[in-house]
Amino acid sequence: MAAVTMKKCFEVMIMTIRNMSLNDYDEVYALWAAAPGVGVNDFDDSVKGIAKYLARNPRTCFVAEKDGKIVGAVLGGHDGRRGTICHLAVAESHNKQGIGTALVDAALAALQNEGIRKVWLVVMADNAQGNTFWEKQGFEKRDDIYYRNKVIIEEQYAKNSCC
Ligand SMILES: CC(C)(COP(=O)(O)OP(=O)(O)OC[C@H]1O[C@@H](n2cnc3c(N)ncnc32)[C@H](O)[C@@H]1OP(=O)(O)O)[C@@H](O)C(=O)NCCC(=O)NCCS
Repeated sequence: MAAVTMKKCFEVMIMTIRNMSLNDYDEVYALWAAAPGVGVNDFDDSVKGIAKYLARNPRTCFVAEKDGKIVGAVLGGHDGRRGTICHLAVAESHNKQGIGTALVDAALAALQNEGIRKVWLVVMADNAQGNTFWEKQGFEKRDDIYYRNKVIIEEQYAKNSCC
């Protein structure tokens, strides 16, 4: 657990960045569901789906907590070769205070600690705020790659996400 101090105008607030656990699910899901640019569905993002993700990636998913309330979250994970980041969201009331950056820094450090050299992510092309954010984090936009995917479990409710 790391305490991160951030300055906002004249106010100094203490933000805790810690690993996400399944106990955080309800709060984190509400955050994701309210965040423009984060697509949630009832399959991958169900309690069962997130439990599976956290079990595979127990050290690389994080929440930001302030006054006992979760105000940001990110899922980091890897397949043993490449790292990936998804579902980064910060509560609108807490935007532009460095919380998104602190969550990404935590996920990248944890992935690096697991021997991961390169991390990728997808962001919707029309998510201007998200793209500005990732550019600032040093994530290069690749124009030489087509992103392709294929649904292999035909669940109607699982088709509502970008990746
Ligand atoms: C994108 C998001 C995670 C950024 O979180 P945050 O805590 O506000 O980000 P930070 O305060 O660390 O900002 C870092 C940089 O991102 C950019 N940025 C953040 N919010 C921005 C906004 N509203 N408009 C333009 N740029 C913005 C800025 O370059 C900022 O640096 P600066 O403060 O020095 O100008 C947050 O706005 C969010 O949850 N958006 C909705 C969900 C989403 O789009 N997630 C990404 C999906 S891939």
